[in-house]
Amino acid sequence: MKFFIDTANLDQIREAQDLGVLDGVTTNPSLMAKEGITGRNNILKHYVAICNIVDGDVSAEVIATDFKGMVKEGEELAELHDQIVVKVPMIKEGVKAIKYFSDHGIRTNCTLVFSAGQALLAAKAGATYVSPFIGRLDDISTDGLELIADIRLIYDNYGFETKILAASVRHTMHVINCAKIGADVMTGPLSSIEGLLKHPLTDSGLKQFLEDYKKGN
Ligand code: G3P
Repeated sequence: MKFFIDTANLDQIREAQDLGVLDGVTTNPSLMAKEGITGRNNILKHYVAICNIVDGDVSAEVIATDFKGMVKEGEELAELHDQIVVKVPMIKEGVKAIKYFSDHGIRTNCTLVFSAGQALLAAKAGATYVSPFIGRLDDISTDGLELIADIRLIYDNYGFETKILAASVRHTMHVINCAKIGADVMTGPLSSIEGLLKHPLTDSGLKQFLEDYKKGN
């Protein structure tokens, strides 16, 4: 299972990269705005800065919602760096754009996916990744993990190569359950990755080991 970090914060990206387990980064317009990155040029520069920190895929989202606009922006984003994956929303024009990008060798991440039907369409259009937002489904009392399981079943039934990128991951149990179901990738905040290493028995066990070592030395 690949681990992506879902942020545009360069310090957090560096911290996750330093841990040695980071496979990529996802961003979206809200995450860029949160870091105060505004204006097309600054946004493009920021994507390049992220690519220079990590080795893996970096999702960069189009703002246009019409086919022509998405293609223009997506081609510009893909030109920036070979790690860029063009993030396209799951709307009618987006499906057409994903098909276009897929036919032209540009990798895509179909975002804002909330149903198995949307995930099936994204795969049919040739998306590299599909991003079901599990946290936002949980927020409205719908089981986000059930969606991951449904998509896994559908993709396996037909051998779709589109990778399931569990997005809107909020905490460690999302990560663990996505891994149990077989999501290809998860993207979440740094806390969802670092939280995985915590266990009180590890801490007390280590404390005891060190105390016992000191007694004999
Ligand atoms: O990857 C999608 C993500 O950015 C949305 O997460 O926590 O805003 O639902 P959240």
